[in-house]
Amino acid sequence: MSCPAPAFSPTTHIEKLEDKITTRTARVGIVGLGYVGLPLGVEFASAGFPVTGIDLAESKVARINAGNSYVQDVATPDVAKLVKTGRLQATTDFSVIRELDTINICVPTPLRKTKDPDMSYIVSACQEIAKYFHPGMLVILESTTYPGTTEEVVLPMLEASGLQVGRDFFLCFSPERVDPGNPNFQTRNIPKVVGGITAECTNLGMLFYGQALENVIPVSSTRVAEMVKLLENTFRMINIGLANEMAMMADRMGIDIWEVIRAASTKPFGFMPFYPGPGLGGHCIPIDPFYLSWKSRQAGIEARFIELAGYINGQMPHFVFEKVRSALNDRSKPVKGSHIHLLGVAYKRDIDDVRESPALDIVHLLRRHGAKVTYSDPYVPSIVVDGAVLPATGEQTVSAADCTVIVTDHSTVDYEAIVQAARLIVDTRNALRGIASDKIVRL
Ligand SMILES: NC(=O)c1ccc[n+]([C@@H]2O[C@H](COP(=O)([O-])OP(=O)(O)OC[C@H]3O[C@@H](n4cnc5c(N)ncnc54)[C@H](O)[C@@H]3O)[C@@H](O)[C@H]2O)c1
Repeated sequence: MSCPAPAFSPTTHIEKLEDKITTRTARVGIVGLGYVGLPLGVEFASAGFPVTGIDLAESKVARINAGNSYVQDVATPDVAKLVKTGRLQATTDFSVIRELDTINICVPTPLRKTKDPDMSYIVSACQEIAKYFHPGMLVILESTTYPGTTEEVVLPMLEASGLQVGRDFFLCFSPERVDPGNPNFQTRNIPKVVGGITAECTNLGMLFYGQALENVIPVSSTRVAEMVKLLENTFRMINIGLANEMAMMADRMGIDIWEVIRAASTKPFGFMPFYPGPGLGGHCIPIDPFYLSWKSRQAGIEARFIELAGYINGQMPHFVFEKVRSALNDRSKPVKGSHIHLLGVAYKRDIDDVRESPALDIVHLLRRHGAKVTYSDPYVPSIVVDGAVLPATGEQTVSAADCTVIVTDHSTVDYEAIVQAARLIVDTRNALRGIASDKIVRL
């Protein structure tokens, strides 16, 4: 590509963008309107910026333009108000980038079957951005990824325009920390870490987020910002792995792991509780650490904690299956032919997300051993297991099931009533703490 001469002097690009950001006239673009992108777009639109969301999914674009939210943590009336006042709009057409001043990239970063990073979404988003890229833009990658991505993958694609980073355009990485379903921490009040390719990039990134979010923390580079997210999620994954391993040990020794954790949590320093469960789920904790282990393998270091925790966490659906099998055996019933009801299938409490949910593995295992499986979940109308759709039944199915397995501890469920109705319950979440019954088998 030929090298266009910058239309303005270097200082002018920075000053112009600073001015647009502080007057909230900068035209903000969000690429990828999912669990991360939509709340972020709504925050910037609520702060007064004109926001355009770009997504490949026509259905999402149509819903936003009709004033509807499809993300649980974003209220439809908020979207409707912002769309009505013209501050929020969505499109599938990337050519709007010609008109935009800033872009946040919030596309998926899954793993390939081989557990290697799948960068195809980031690459394809950047290819589209590069087509309409122009001087004076601020681009911020938010998708979780391995250290080096912003510099090694995104930067060359944008520099192919002939523009120079830190002078003609500005590039940062800022990890997204949103915690779906958390009523106390949402996009606005979760501190935002940002690191730029140059100091000018970091400063503009800070100025930008500072308009809409409460607390912005600068770091010295995009690599540090990328690694921050991976430390946070790896810390969580490994500690959950430890809690799961402790739960399996405690089970073998006849010790109540929940009582152990409760008592250990009374230590006022040096201990932070993590809880066992049916296995990891969601788009982050089971996936992101493998981005780090892939990258560290390239650097000649095996990420042994990550691999071990991944193995232990991956055993949990099998452990739950064995709990169900032994609980049925104690009542002289085989798994084969038994009716098992899963109470909750979302990967965590009070959300509708089943991505990577251990419930899917548990359904698969139970069916493979000949069980008839049903489920109920107030947030999930159907799931797909082994390529087939399984629609939810109501909670009343609990009374017909030979065994009910609490996989997700949604707070809307009346657990006393469940215990009354059920014949046998395997509780993988300690949802039945404080309820005594010989029908209950705890993890
Ligand atoms: N969901 C979370 O709780 C969470 C938390 C922190 C970080 N993250 C990270 O944020 C990123 C996004 O996650 P998410 O949960 O919002 O994903 P999501 O699947 O909910 O949303 C991604 C959106 O991007 C769109 N998309 C895909 N390719 C595109 C392209 N080339 N151009 C435009 N749009 C495209 C999809 O249609 C989808 O609407 C991931 O890297 C994830 O790891 C997610």
